[in-house]
Amino acid sequence: MKLKIAVLAGDGIGPEVIDQAVKVSDAIAQKFGHEITWRPALTGAAAIDAVGEPYPDETHEICITSDAVLFGAVGHPKYDNDPSAKVRPEQGLLKMRKKLGLFANVRPTFTFPSLLDKSPLKRERIEGTDLVFLRELTGGIYFGEKGRRDNGETAFDNCVYSRHEVQRLAKKGFELAMTRSKKLCCVDKANVLETSRLWRETVQAMEKDYPEVTVSYEFVDAVAMRLVQWPNSYDVLITENLFGDILTDEASVISGSMGLMPSASIGSDIGLFEPIHGSYPQATGKNIANPMATVLSSAMMFENFGLMEEGKAIREVVEKALSKGIVTEDLSDGGKSYGTKEVGEWLAKNV
Ligand code: IPM
Ligand code: MN
Repeated sequence: MKLKIAVLAGDGIGPEVIDQAVKVSDAIAQKFGHEITWRPALTGAAAIDAVGEPYPDETHEICITSDAVLFGAVGHPKYDNDPSAKVRPEQGLLKMRKKLGLFANVRPTFTFPSLLDKSPLKRERIEGTDLVFLRELTGGIYFGEKGRRDNGETAFDNCVYSRHEVQRLAKKGFELAMTRSKKLCCVDKANVLETSRLWRETVQAMEKDYPEVTVSYEFVDAVAMRLVQWPNSYDVLITENLFGDILTDEASVISGSMGLMPSASIGSDIGLFEPIHGSYPQATGKNIANPMATVLSSAMMFENFGLMEEGKAIREVVEKALSKGIVTEDLSDGGKSYGTKEVGEWLAKNV
């Protein structure tokens, strides 16, 4: 297969972890006879510094003429404590999701046998956890009308959902559930929010089209609790944008390190693949960031092209590195650790 991949490394540790995913993907391409053309483009604070805009038109052009986007991270501390900043790196990501029509964010959480004791949760709680969040990504409070009134003394962010937006996300959820254990959990706050009642009503109406899927409806606060108590009781979970943002960060610690979990954003022909973690500014340039999440995101990218063997080969080599202790310092327990680059090179060599 000939693939054109846009590479948006972004900020902080983004470029370092992206480099490793590129190396590993190139090794896979060589092994399986594919040809990848990497097409770098600017985003985040790096793009603001260069052209004053976090998702420039030139970057969008590169994305829409590519087969997929591999994304690092965006965010820079100089914007975090400045509520008056007019442009922010994060706006680039939001704009990109919207413009590329990426309405579904697939965020798996699974455990690695060799890391069960690295999780802050007890081994017996997390063993066997293998769940997937489908987070709605282009609606809700993130994109509703927002502003100030009363001379700036009052602020508002509207949460808005249409039935169509819920349906297309839920459809992906049902379809995914059919390929797994046929269990779907709809996470909402239908006891309080009107948008949640629309979610529940819409998903309930779809149940008849998927008679084999068992659907449960749970309130987001209860899910936040059960997620750390009995994560292995969940399989596929669907939820709106903000709930999904919060719960997927929570879920990511189950595996032992935030640096391990990949994600995919889908909805149109061009998927976007990125680690769940952020730009981790404190680690920038130190060669200590864990590249596994980005490498595993490239596995999701291959799988999204239907290249399942390629994806599997990446997952296997990651598993092998973890069990052999070829890991960055976040996973080394003070023992021997390797640099970001060295882990990437080891993976590329061993695929
Ligand atoms: C994420 C991030 C983004 C989000 C930010 C950077 C806009 O936290 O991908 O989860 O809130 O969606
Ligand atoms: Mn987030």
